[in-house]
Amino acid sequence: GLPTSFAEESECSTLEIVCQDSLLNLKVTLSYSVFENEDVITRHVVVANGGKDIIRIEKAASMSLDMDNRDFEMLTLHGSWARERHKQRRKLGAGYQGISSGRGESSHQNHPFMALLTGSCTQEQGEVYGVQMMYSGNFDIQAEVSQFNSVRWQAGIGTNDFCWVLGPEERFYTPEALLTYSDEGIDKMTANYHAFIKNHVIRGKYKDKKRPILINNWEATYFHFTGEKLVAIAKEAKKLGIELFVMDDGWFGKREDDCSGLGDWFPNEKKLGCTLKELAERIVAEGMQFGIWLEPEGISEDSDLYRCRPDWAVGVPGRKPCLSRGQLILDFSRKDVQDYIIERISELLGGIPVTYVKWDCNRAICDKFSRMLDSSRQGEFAHRYVLGLYRVLEKLTEKFPQILFEGCGGGGGRFDAGLLYYMPQIWGSDTTDAIERLSIQYGASFGYPVSAMGTHVSMVPNHQTGRVTPLSTRGCMAMAGTFGYELDISKLTQEEKTEIREQISIFQKHYTLIQRGDYYRITSPLEGTCTVWEIADPSGREALVSAVYHHVQANPVPVRVKVQGLKDEADYQLFLNEDFKEKYPGKRLPYGFASGEAISGASLRQFGFVVPEAVNGFQAWQIYVKECPHQA
Ligand code: DGJ
Repeated sequence: GLPTSFAEESECSTLEIVCQDSLLNLKVTLSYSVFENEDVITRHVVVANGGKDIIRIEKAASMSLDMDNRDFEMLTLHGSWARERHKQRRKLGAGYQGISSGRGESSHQNHPFMALLTGSCTQEQGEVYGVQMMYSGNFDIQAEVSQFNSVRWQAGIGTNDFCWVLGPEERFYTPEALLTYSDEGIDKMTANYHAFIKNHVIRGKYKDKKRPILINNWEATYFHFTGEKLVAIAKEAKKLGIELFVMDDGWFGKREDDCSGLGDWFPNEKKLGCTLKELAERIVAEGMQFGIWLEPEGISEDSDLYRCRPDWAVGVPGRKPCLSRGQLILDFSRKDVQDYIIERISELLGGIPVTYVKWDCNRAICDKFSRMLDSSRQGEFAHRYVLGLYRVLEKLTEKFPQILFEGCGGGGGRFDAGLLYYMPQIWGSDTTDAIERLSIQYGASFGYPVSAMGTHVSMVPNHQTGRVTPLSTRGCMAMAGTFGYELDISKLTQEEKTEIREQISIFQKHYTLIQRGDYYRITSPLEGTCTVWEIADPSGREALVSAVYHHVQANPVPVRVKVQGLKDEADYQLFLNEDFKEKYPGKRLPYGFASGEAISGASLRQFGFVVPEAVNGFQAWQIYVKECPHQA
């Protein structure tokens, strides 16, 4: 019932070490699968009870590694709603240190990933050990420094409240931990994880297939729309080159705000002005694909489902459950709940021409209790919930292979390799502010490829921060992900529409490079003035460098980019995404941009180029580096 990495026989070999406790009649199998191409070892453990007594499992790590402490620093990702996955790097000290989630989801707060770095490790040099959990629920990742300065490093299912009762002849499987090692700095760890997730985690039709550029109506309308309004957005979006229209929250039951309606997965035809099928068909007739938002795990107290089945909501009987975003959560550990959701959602999706689903979950789990489990088994609840979710997702993705599923956890609250096994992309954060997204996407880049990161261009002033950034900057940020729009198209000027058309043609032109190329972090959003990242084609023939000024200064220190992944002996030209001279007369471009000079790959690697200065606040530049014929 758990997601697992997969491979052709020739790509992977597995070693199983069987440990036996003859007193308890307990067998513990330690599994190591070696993926040589990506330099990844996946680990999981199977506990089998061969005795006659019940065994209570209170901790079952997926991996445990003992090493000498080589002045290790730990790199982890932290945050909150709307500011997920901010990087933190700190030295290991004596005793325990680590990260965990007890929220029933991999969480906004701590991310199921940790790297141990030798002290002087940089992006390009030094040694790195990485671990991430292929799991969407509670986790613990711990590093313990002992009295003799050794490190015991463990990752596994969260132990907070966990206790699994293993009966005679039963087995318990831990989730997978994905381990990697690099002696070429942090970038190599990232390369290993990106390749691994693309090749051995993401499945289905959209594994290698081009994903559509979408427009989502959430920030354009929130809950307040009609069917006509949605069709109008779709029509206009089509003219700009957008391929998929996504109808977000508010189309079902009684759902005019976030306090009611969840659970009633029946279209509100009065609001839509037609049936859901008619609406979807109208959008398809405009030449757009149709997508829909769902939150099947959610339930509102003010809903027909809750009135009919209050016992299906998670909560402790006799106690008032804690609401979050005005809602409760369905007990997905129950088979009857899972079956109902599979049936209802299947019926809904089966009746409309739909090619995309956004699967949201807008709250963490507290009041952890299931009415289906007796008191000795309540410690199983959180894990059973995740297993239930995986079962529902397995059934639905199997039934609807043509649908692209995008995960979402109230923004980026459930962004992990476990979910990517079912849904090839996950909405990165509820912050659509391009500058805030720099740190969020920078953090995610350590472990996840660009093709996994849901990103949109939204309106300004930004709805979460009030910040005003140029449209080109928003486009540049969104292109470091799956790319889409989330704004009221009717409020755009002709110039903005023209710019969006251009953005779309840039993205289409560079699609394969962006989604399949090698990713390099050049500078960090946490330091300096300008965040720079690069995606290079593995052939070394081209690269796209993106530079966003997160802090604009007068008389700034030049930002130098040493381009990676090129061929030393080849020549290259640099192209800017804007006609600089025409747009900014009187301003000077740095060497390499002015008149199409050819620069050698070796020079670009060793000396690089200087990013054009910021002409506006939060300026972004996209610099396309392309191999050209050798010039004598
Ligand atoms: C949270 C998501 O992250 C948003 O994009 C939007 O879908 C809302 N939920 C809808 O309730």
